[in-house]
Amino acid sequence: MTDEPLVLGIETSCDETGIGIVRGHTLLADAIASSVDEHARFGGVVPEVASRAHLEAMVPTMRRALDTAGVTLADIDAIAVTAGPGLAGALLVGVAAAKGYALAAEKPLYGVNHLAAHVAVDTLEHGALPQPCIALLVSGGHSSLLRVDDLAGAVTPLGATIDDAAGEAFDKVARLLGLPFPGGPPIDREARAGDPGSIAFPRGLTAPKDLHTHRFDFSFSGLKTAVARWVEARQRAGEPVPLADVAASFQEAVCDVLVVKAIDACREYGIDTLVIGGGVAANSRLRALAEQRAAKYRIAVRVPRPKLCTDNGAMVAALGSELVRAGKSPSPLGLPADSSMPITEVLNK
Ligand code: KG4
Ligand code: ZN
Repeated sequence: MTDEPLVLGIETSCDETGIGIVRGHTLLADAIASSVDEHARFGGVVPEVASRAHLEAMVPTMRRALDTAGVTLADIDAIAVTAGPGLAGALLVGVAAAKGYALAAEKPLYGVNHLAAHVAVDTLEHGALPQPCIALLVSGGHSSLLRVDDLAGAVTPLGATIDDAAGEAFDKVARLLGLPFPGGPPIDREARAGDPGSIAFPRGLTAPKDLHTHRFDFSFSGLKTAVARWVEARQRAGEPVPLADVAASFQEAVCDVLVVKAIDACREYGIDTLVIGGGVAANSRLRALAEQRAAKYRIAVRVPRPKLCTDNGAMVAALGSELVRAGKSPSPLGLPADSSMPITEVLNK
């Protein structure tokens, strides 16, 4: 539909410089430049390196996105940018660039929440989001369960990780198994040849005593330590470490907890749509397990394709598009980058 707003989204909260362009729910361009290779030898994202890489990638990535969509900046109706949460210096590069483009082209600017954008991206794949829905957001920096009554404004946090994020657990366990960074994809691959039931790793915050206070919260730090202890014990005994079995059992423990709690939230609130987003949503076992268990309760699971799950500009454009359609006022040009922007703030006003 040509009367839908043409929205450009800029994402720089972590190590991907993403520029996406959407018209309504239609994805027109999703240009990405990643600095992940520059961080690999450190086993995690180095903020200063990421900020510098965003600065270098911004203009060429913008050009690529506009070319792919076959539009110019003058055609764009609104610019959306990740205002937070994320790495302060990295966010600042995107927010400053967005202000520059918005000012130069005289376009309204929307400073949006990165986590809400991870949910909004699903509209590009599956169309308008049934609301209310429950969203499970699992990435390298976040693990949250949200109740989404209105993507353009009413998002309620139900729970979050109390220590490591799910993706962080994948990254740390991959490191101790000698697999490359980021650890999610290689563990996902290794796990395919392993037995997920071979090692009983702990399921954090699922014991009855924890459910009183942490029913919808997560904890992955104990699981990571359990994997480390198990591997060390093997090595001390001079026995080989069954990589595929460890990867599969670890992955099963993470996915089991994520799915159990997400479905519990759907049932508690009588909600029949579960959206999964964030980098860990690319995990093949998480996708399969969620679908399998949700089907029992007639809960529909919506997960975007893997490329849209990890950080990108299209997700920011998708949320911007929702905000424009909902008639929300743009952010002020003085909008700050807010590294700890709460999820209750979908749009910086
Ligand atoms: O959403 P994202 O790109 O960036 C953040 O906002 O953090 O997520 C990156 C995280 C990394 O921790 C990475 O290991 C994880 O997503 N990840 C995966 C998979 N693909 C990426 N985790 C498990 N399985 C995967 N297939
Ligand atoms: Zn993210």
